[in-house]
Amino acid sequence: MREKLSKQLFGEDFAWGVSTAAFQTEGAFQDEGKSLSIWDVFTNKKGRIKNGENACTACDFYYRYRDDIDIIKSLNIPNFRFSIAWTRILPDGTGRVNQAGIDHYNRVIDYCLEQGIEPWPTIYHWDLPQVLEDKGGWTNREVVQWFTEFVAVCAQSFGDRVKHWMVMNEPAVFTGAGYFLGLHAPGRTGLKNFLPAIHHVVLSMVAGGRKLRELLPDANIGTTFSCSAIEPYSQKPRDIAAAQRADALVNRLFIEPILGLGYPDKEVTALKGISKYKLPGDEENMSFDFDFIGIQNYTRELVKFSIFTPYVYARLVKATERNVSTTLMGWEVHPEAIYQVLKKFDAYEKIKSIYVTENGAAFHDEMVDEAINDQERQDYLQSHISQVLRAKNDGIKVKGYFIWTLTDNFEWAEGYHPRFGLIHIDFKNQKRTVKASGRWYADFLKG
Ligand code: NOJ
Repeated sequence: MREKLSKQLFGEDFAWGVSTAAFQTEGAFQDEGKSLSIWDVFTNKKGRIKNGENACTACDFYYRYRDDIDIIKSLNIPNFRFSIAWTRILPDGTGRVNQAGIDHYNRVIDYCLEQGIEPWPTIYHWDLPQVLEDKGGWTNREVVQWFTEFVAVCAQSFGDRVKHWMVMNEPAVFTGAGYFLGLHAPGRTGLKNFLPAIHHVVLSMVAGGRKLRELLPDANIGTTFSCSAIEPYSQKPRDIAAAQRADALVNRLFIEPILGLGYPDKEVTALKGISKYKLPGDEENMSFDFDFIGIQNYTRELVKFSIFTPYVYARLVKATERNVSTTLMGWEVHPEAIYQVLKKFDAYEKIKSIYVTENGAAFHDEMVDEAINDQERQDYLQSHISQVLRAKNDGIKVKGYFIWTLTDNFEWAEGYHPRFGLIHIDFKNQKRTVKASGRWYADFLKG
């Protein structure tokens, strides 16, 4: 019989946690000196978000952080990943510091520590100040200085208590969806936006990592990447080549430059266009030895050659076309994917350690007698955690696992419909109800 999954099998030092992000949870979108972010503006545009929803209130976490941290504690979760809204700290993007914003995150951090919960802030989780987007956002090279200034203020304000940092969240998604496909804020499209954004994000990620190390030499400094297991749809050579190109964009685009390996432009030749945005001396400023890399995995993708997808000539074959079990996002449930991406990232020699900084699932949750018996989510989490254990037992340097996410929240362009939380929120009255999966995680963590 298979050994029962228990936290002890991962060892004492393994970091268990839960992840959130400012824009998806905080609300209070114009309170206490906060300026508008690109997501505040984008959600206000017609037709961009499902059902015309916005995150003006979201989970009201800005005001309810104590209650939610109390729930984290009651679920025995020792580590809490959240993000810091740039628009609260530097409402003009740079320059003037908004003390009310600093005070707010001080309270969040202090309250975590009082409850025995370790804070793991992400500095940038997609909510660029709109004032900076008006100057070109990630396509403007000056963003490297703007971002470094924001990182410095965070380090100076919170670094006496925060030991673990993540510089950025999923650069491939916020540049790809935000500056190439136009599906996310700021809604820009085309290579002319995408290519400079990629390069400036790489420079910023590195500059941010270096700034943290300079100001906080003892901190544990990481950054996080979206990653999916990628497989060719068939063994036809053109599907195999298409899968390699998709893998370059989905998994390698940001990790390889920061490891000093350059952009994967042999596979996706359009990336050669990045050289137009490179200045002399950039090569030395494109890599940094992060203490850890956060991988965020939800699924795998099967890839077919396609003449209709310019630049990559590859298309992801939707899970719904393949008759496999999926989550509410339409993503295939394939636990082995997390093992495969851990293995893939572990193979990069220069990566020192890996944390799974996000993994989780949206399913249709039904409230019956004030309870939510979300067995599918529990199965999803258990089967993925088992694959993380498999990786660890194989010697892969995985040091922690964070569930996405604490409470149901604003799922970007998808609005409130996909619920990923361990805790249900009734958005009419903000009532929190711990789901069965949340109780399962609590029991698992109790050991
Ligand atoms: C990745 C992102 O970091 C997070 O913001 C998002 O909600 C989840 N994945 C689920 O899509």
